[in-house]
Parts: sequence; C-alpha cells; structure tokens
Amino acid sequence: MSTTNQSKKVALVTGGNRGIGFAISKQLALQGISVIIGSRDIRQGEAAARSIAPPPAGGTTTTTTTTVSAFELDVTDQDSVDKLASTIHSRSGKLDILVNNAGVLLDETDNLPSKIDLQIVKATLETNLIGAWRLCQSFVPMMKKNKYGRIVNVSSGAGALTTIQQSLYAPAYSLSKSSLNVLTIMFANELRREDTNILVNAVDPGWVRTDMGGPSAPRSVEDGADTAAWLATLPDRGPTGGFFFDRKRIEW
Ligand SMILES: NC(=O)c1ccc[n+]([C@@H]2O[C@H](COP(=O)([O-])OP(=O)(O)OC[C@H]3O[C@@H](n4cnc5c(N)ncnc54)[C@H](OP(=O)(O)O)[C@@H]3O)[C@@H](O)[C@H]2O)c1
Repeated sequence: MSTTNQSKKVALVTGGNRGIGFAISKQLALQGISVIIGSRDIRQGEAAARSIAPPPAGGTTTTTTTTVSAFELDVTDQDSVDKLASTIHSRSGKLDILVNNAGVLLDETDNLPSKIDLQIVKATLETNLIGAWRLCQSFVPMMKKNKYGRIVNVSSGAGALTTIQQSLYAPAYSLSKSSLNVLTIMFANELRREDTNILVNAVDPGWVRTDMGGPSAPRSVEDGADTAAWLATLPDRGPTGGFFFDRKRIEW
C-alpha cells in the first residue's frame, strides 16, 4: 500500500481546465485527492474547479473529502512554473502527483517533414516535450523529499514508433510525443536508480472527443482519462517507465 493517506494526496494536472485534463482532475478529486488545476486562463481554471466541486461559501471549492483549486500555469513559461511550485510548496509542502497533460496539436495532419514550418515544430516541442520536462524538473525535488511521487505523461498513439513507422501523421506532434515517451523512460531510469518511490509512466488516451480530438472521435473524455488517473494512483512498487493504453502496457 502507499505510504501516505490517499485523501491527503496533492495532484497537479496541467491543462486541467478542459478536455482530458479536466476529466483526469475530476476522477482524481472523486478519489479524495486534493487537485490543483493548472490553467493558462485562470478564469477558465476556476470555472473548471467550481464545476468539479462547487464552493461552500466562495473561495476555494471543496467536497467533503477533497479540495479543487485552480492556478495560472503556462508550461512554456519558466517563471509561471516557478511561481506555482513556490505556491504549492508553501501551501502543502509537497506534490504527490504530477499529470503532464497540457498539449498542442499545431501542425496540419497531412504536413510533411520536408515541408513543415520549423516554427511549428519548435512551438510544439516547447509545449509537449519541454513543458513536461520543465514541470518534472520543478517538482521531482519535492517528490524526492517526500519519498513519494507519481508522474503521468499524457502522450499519444501518434508518438508510438510502431505507428510512426507506418504513417506520416502530424510530424511535429508525433515527434513531440515520441520524445515525451523517451523522456518518460529517462526519468523513470534516473528515479528507479535512486530508489525514490517516484513512478513515471506515459499514457495513450486513445482518440478522444475534445477540442483537439474533434467530434468524430470514438472515445469519451472519461475513457480517455481513466488510465491516466489509474497511473496517477499506482501503489508503491507499481510499474515505472511504461507506456499504457486502457490500463495495459503497449509497445513504444
Ligand atoms: N484528444 C485526443 O484524441 C488525444 C489523443 C492522444 C493524446 N492526446 C493528448 O491528451 C492531452 C489533452 O488533450 P485534449 O484532447 O484534452 O486537448 P484540448 O482539449 O485541446 O486541451 C488541451 C489543454 O492543454 C492546455 N495547454 C495547451 N498549451 C498549454 C500551455 N502552454 N500551458 C498550459 N496549458 C496548455 C490547454 O489550455 P487552454 O485552454 O489555455 O488552451 C487545454 O487545457 C494532450 O497532451 C494531447 O496531446 C489527446
């Protein structure tokens, strides 16, 4: 079993104001976890927090067992990440769960690697890869101190090498997600060696009906969020350095 009480756990979900991130935030809050929604637009973040747990008398929103709050966070901005890390440190002294969900799909799906504007590639990597890396660097020290951590990187089937070998789908996005998968393995290896009780995994949520996935996608946000929420609450000695879809390990 986990070394800390589940009801007292603190989670940060980046891009938790809408889509899959919102559904992950909701699923974690329903398990009694204190959830911090990271949102570029604080008003959207606060509205999302209120819709998960309506406020009792204004201010922070609570259910009987948990708290849901929103903080301004742009994962491409180091100052924004530092500010949030310092707020979390002074408020709770720890972060148990980090869900790197924030992501962008900027390229046209039929872009070719020989023609795509490299500014699109840079901007995609800045959010989908460096953003997650920045968050890990900021919060791993707090997790190490607490001897507990669960990091979930929301990747994509588009980042699986098995998919990339067979298609030319959205090269900037696909590269960013395969790189995020490599980052997952690297952090898992580093933290496993140090015996930190920090588990780091990547998830493919499937094709999900969100602003990014579009209305034709076959999966609901709840289905898309399920494996991420499961990985976020793995027991001690659970898997680390893996890539999961529907709670099952998949090929990189
Ligand atoms: N939908 C799918 O079919 C699908 C499939 C595979 C993987 N995924 C992955 O799942 C994750 C969530 O996707 P989604 O479908 O829920 O997308 P979405 O509806 O477009 O939501 C994306 C979220 O990321 C946030 N975000 C983007 N850039 C950010 C930044 N620089 N800093 C902070 N937040 C930022 C957005 O904030 P704003 O509201 O401020 O824009 C929004 O909250 C992404 O990583 C995506 O790549 C999605």
